[in-house]
Amino acid sequence: MTRAASLRAASIEQQVNALLERMTLEEKIGQMSQVNAAGGHVPAHLREAVRGGRIGSVLNEVDVTTVNELQRLAVEESRLGIPLLVGRDVIHGFKTVFPIPIGQASSWDPTLVSTGARIAADEAAAHGVNWTFAPMIDIARDPRWGRVAESLGEDPYLAGVLGAAMVRGFQGDDLADRGSIAACAKHFAGYGASESGRDYNSTNIPENELRNVYLPPFKAAVDAGVATLMTSFSDLDGVPATANTFLLRDVLRDEWRSDALVVSDWESIRQLAVHGFTEDDRDSAYQAANAGVDMEMASTTYADHLASLVHDKRISMQQVDTAVRNVLRVKFRLGLFDEPYTDPAAFLPAANDAHLQAAYDAAVASAVLLKNDDWALPLHADQLGTIAVIGPLADDPYEQLGTWVFDGDASHSRTVLRALRERIGDRADVAYARGVATTRSRGHDDFAEAVALAERADVAVLVLGEEAILSGEAHCRADITLPGAQEALLKAVAATGTKVILVLMTGRPLALESAVRHAHAVLCVWHPGTMGGPAIADLLLGERAPSGKLPVTFPRVTGQIPIYYAHRNTGKPVTHESYVFIDDIEARAPQVSVGNTSFHLDTAFTPLYPFGHGLSYSHVEYEHLWTSTAVLRMNGSLTIGVDVVNVGPRDTTEIVQLYVRDLVGDITRPVRELKAFTRVSLARGERRQVEFTLTPRDLAFFGRAHRLIVEPGRFHAWIGGSSATELRTEFVLVDDSTR
Ligand code: BGC
Repeated sequence: MTRAASLRAASIEQQVNALLERMTLEEKIGQMSQVNAAGGHVPAHLREAVRGGRIGSVLNEVDVTTVNELQRLAVEESRLGIPLLVGRDVIHGFKTVFPIPIGQASSWDPTLVSTGARIAADEAAAHGVNWTFAPMIDIARDPRWGRVAESLGEDPYLAGVLGAAMVRGFQGDDLADRGSIAACAKHFAGYGASESGRDYNSTNIPENELRNVYLPPFKAAVDAGVATLMTSFSDLDGVPATANTFLLRDVLRDEWRSDALVVSDWESIRQLAVHGFTEDDRDSAYQAANAGVDMEMASTTYADHLASLVHDKRISMQQVDTAVRNVLRVKFRLGLFDEPYTDPAAFLPAANDAHLQAAYDAAVASAVLLKNDDWALPLHADQLGTIAVIGPLADDPYEQLGTWVFDGDASHSRTVLRALRERIGDRADVAYARGVATTRSRGHDDFAEAVALAERADVAVLVLGEEAILSGEAHCRADITLPGAQEALLKAVAATGTKVILVLMTGRPLALESAVRHAHAVLCVWHPGTMGGPAIADLLLGERAPSGKLPVTFPRVTGQIPIYYAHRNTGKPVTHESYVFIDDIEARAPQVSVGNTSFHLDTAFTPLYPFGHGLSYSHVEYEHLWTSTAVLRMNGSLTIGVDVVNVGPRDTTEIVQLYVRDLVGDITRPVRELKAFTRVSLARGERRQVEFTLTPRDLAFFGRAHRLIVEPGRFHAWIGGSSATELRTEFVLVDDSTR
């Protein structure tokens, strides 16, 4: 912290304490209560509650006149004049919708992600919102879980870097600046491990797995100064996160020394009783307050019971004061005591050209080219007579926005069909057939029209996947193949012999092993947001080139889940030699117990597309991997470098990735872990040396005793364009002090 920042923090602390001294217990509990205020007007009961100082925060009101009226009631008509926190789920844009978070994560570009958050913050702030419930940084290793769409993927390091970038984007340099809003790291913690990918389900996470995999992105967000955190709906080893003293006190407050505001999730305090963790609402209020949840969202157990819990000395005034301090601190940092009102005229209009341009750039950078046989892409419009555009997502302004777009405005959306027509003009005929009514439709009635169109076309671009409602909160799937009749449609179109380009608009990785066989190229664009159409059209036509890499593994079939690159080795890892496919087993083959390894009989042991995978319109080779030293000392550092060469036909951007394996550990270690990455632009024919620096700190992990340790020993390191890269070197970490 700079001297100026620490002086400011000290002055805020003084103001918080001075205000706290004047507060009654009822007013304190008011600051710990957040209510739903959606509706565009202030109902009488809310008016009275705000005037009475019984509410510290509202959520879901985005009508700026109503928000200003609520602030006026709080500031001018309540006894102490404390302004309100105004919360909203601004997840991937406000009016201008950016790609869903898993899409943005495919850019591996912290600057781009931060810019998106900044624009979202600005548009939301113009409506009086001063707090977003984002970023969601739950590690997601189960694509059945609908909220994988909202996540930054399966890797703790990548999610940490990008999550911190989002925090910086939302909060800006100073929370008090116009257009800055408080961020919220959610859901603390472990939510992504919900069993069977079913939302809200239980999680069982051993402490070292929790610390090595699920907590690092939250630590990164806290280090980036995130103003608030939200607890998870899920339980962790039987203790709901919303009453989890280990997470909320031991880790967050004692270890990380965070004074961020902790808010519950929607009614998650009341749900403690439903979990079977508490007797009733009073007990729930006790458990949550005791664990350190500063603010209750939506339910009213604090409002109803906290005062009596304090009178009965079950919750101390000190505990209440700590919670209220955490709330007030955010209000002071936001500058709300100086300027509680929002003047929309002080902001640029939403969805202005600059915002749309940024959304376009984000959609371009989010696209991942999964497959491109025989350079099927890019298309050369001048050489094509007719382009068949097929599929329910090719011309749907709403569905391309994806999940969690409360405020997204589909009227700004530009679709793929429209953009292709605009871009191509009269160079070729762009004709459209929907093929199926929705992504879920099972009927084949409209196939004939699509097939006839494909038959007379030179190329068929199928825009298939999942409509927005099939992912996101509570929208989980047990079978993650292409829904409805889409695969049959794809097959029918492919049977015409026309070249097939599959544009995959989806909220999650899909199990596409059988589907991709029918496509020459597959471009995964996730739900690309407002500017998806122009971005995709330009990518298809080669005006722009894909550069995204997967932040999450694509399985071949649903039954492979969980499948992620950073798995542990087991004592019997599979090899190509030991692998046996079900068809190759002879009838009445005898069972043997020797020589067996870990795999499924009915699918390959690799994923369809690994973490980090993504093609471009050029071809990059990696050569001459080197390390500055073979011996890394505990107080030293090591440089690992490689030559990256663009040997393909065009300029390109490559995301260069460094992976490390710790060969022997106090606990068994993942077969690979991402440690660093960088985006590199390479002109055609260009060779560039890329270097990364590693220190022992980068190799630390939580061992058996749940403490962070750095162990001497051998390490492997790879640099390449995906987690499956084979270009490897090694080094030894040496602890001189023990010699
Ligand atoms: C979700 C949160 C969200 C909250 C407020 C809950 O159902 O789990 O992520 O921020 O609602 O809308």
